[in-house]
Amino acid sequence: MHPFESHIRNVPDFPKAGIMFKDITPLLQERFPEVIEAMSQGIDWSKVDYVVGIESRGFILGAAMAQLKGKGFIPMRKKGKLPPPVIAETYALEYGTDTLEMIKEEKPGRVVLVDDVLATGGTLKAAAALCEKNKLHVEGMALLINLTFLNKFKEEGKPVHSVLNY
Ligand code: PRP
Ligand code: MG
Repeated sequence: MHPFESHIRNVPDFPKAGIMFKDITPLLQERFPEVIEAMSQGIDWSKVDYVVGIESRGFILGAAMAQLKGKGFIPMRKKGKLPPPVIAETYALEYGTDTLEMIKEEKPGRVVLVDDVLATGGTLKAAAALCEKNKLHVEGMALLINLTFLNKFKEEGKPVHSVLNY
């Protein structure tokens, strides 16, 4: 068992019935520097200009990684939070859709995408597509937790770095 795992709390039926929620707040409270260090490994930072953090827990992790590696930070937000000009990507959920937005870039860059959890992969896939549409080439993706049984990122050979894999 990875030493971080004892700090993750499994919460049944949250936010909806049937979902086992992995609460990372105790892990962030007790092991934050080590978590940021672990998430920042396995990435060639010489090829990276910015860290893109996905709202909302991707902000906590991504901003700290950017600080550690001396890179700028770009927030990717839920619809309607950022001022224009924005560029958006809509993706399908089990019921309905969701939209991610970021400020429109003027020049190309290379980024690492950061979020807390990779579950079905809908969020990360849309986030990567949005970056590419916005002239930001995705050099890597870093997650704290990859629920590998829910997505096909591994089979598709996508360059995903995750610290805890279930
Ligand atoms: C959660 C989690 C990831 C996403 C993963 O975010 O933080 O961003 O779901 O799920 P997926 O791989 O199936 O897309 P959520 O949209 O619940 O919002 P939050 O981060 O603001 O809590
Ligand atoms: Mg999220």
